[in-house]
Amino acid sequence: MNTELIAKTEVFLKETFAASTYLEANSAQRDYRLEHSYRVANIAKTIAEAEGFDVSYAVIAGLLHDIAYCEEMATREDWKNHGRRSAAIARPFLEELGIPSQAVNEICYGIAIHVDDEADFEWERTPFAETVGDADNIDRFDVYRIYETLEYNKFSEMSLENKKETVASTIEKLTRFRDMELGTQAAKNLWQQRLDYYIDYYERLRAQLDHSSSVPILFYDTDDLRDQEIYLRLNRTCQADPRRKWLPAYYFDICLLGGEKIGYCDLRIGHNEKTYIGGNIGYGIDEAYRGNHYAAKACRLLFKLAKKHRMEYLIITCDPDNLPSVGTCKLAGGVFLEVADIPEDNEMYAEGKRTVNVYRFDM
Ligand SMILES: [Fe+2]
Ligand SMILES: [Fe+2]
Repeated sequence: MNTELIAKTEVFLKETFAASTYLEANSAQRDYRLEHSYRVANIAKTIAEAEGFDVSYAVIAGLLHDIAYCEEMATREDWKNHGRRSAAIARPFLEELGIPSQAVNEICYGIAIHVDDEADFEWERTPFAETVGDADNIDRFDVYRIYETLEYNKFSEMSLENKKETVASTIEKLTRFRDMELGTQAAKNLWQQRLDYYIDYYERLRAQLDHSSSVPILFYDTDDLRDQEIYLRLNRTCQADPRRKWLPAYYFDICLLGGEKIGYCDLRIGHNEKTYIGGNIGYGIDEAYRGNHYAAKACRLLFKLAKKHRMEYLIITCDPDNLPSVGTCKLAGGVFLEVADIPEDNEMYAEGKRTVNVYRFDM
């Protein structure tokens, strides 16, 4: 690593920020931007070391990637342009340092495209160039940012239900972000480590919130859910979500004893107006395996589980026109209660369904 080049770059960055009248008036912004620039430089360094890039150039690119923050960005257009502006400010400095023009172009290209993927000059989009934007994105997911985001969203002032909603949608978003493509494998590893940490944090927060308003149920071991032909392989369990009127649930694959998956089923623990219409049990058998009463057999295994939860009865519902399902309910020993209307606010109504046959199974 060329410490002399890096030291000169640090001085240039600090002097540029210090000379800025805009940052003078916004000192919190100045401090943040300088600290962020150092962090991006350090992340770029880690990626460069792992990928065999020139480490000094990666650090320099990281330090200078946001140098245009010395200028006021009055509009969103200005802000979108700050990668290209930063490259324009960096270029004469880098040339003066005596960095070869090939490397100057590499560094400037990476800086230029880091905001909106566009440069104002022709150059090759190399993994080195992508490292600038990758390091910038990775820095968005550092520990301190969790606190900042919660504070920014006034998390502490939210109701418990809003907190739960916020946490659930954050986890969903983070899980999507986690699979984002980055320029190098090293960047992707760092990115996924950061995202996993975030997801873990929010999962813990979710568990804490779940424990703040109810006693979550204990899910039982399900290894005994098998007969002579099939077994139920647990996919996942899910605690109640009172906001959506969802009860705690088990989700299974229905498998032949050899392990081949032939369908799915689930069991919801407890009763409410939703289970009366949607049932405590849902299931589906893959087309090739229908006609073997596998659904009724899976239901019987689920009854065993329901009894462990001390449920006195279960509801299973089906579309009145779905004759195989009607057959399954009868075969499994259901007592027909009625044809019930599906309320307009039920998800099934939105799917175009209007009525269901309701069967009761005493345990
Ligand atoms: Fe930026
Ligand atoms: Fe940045």
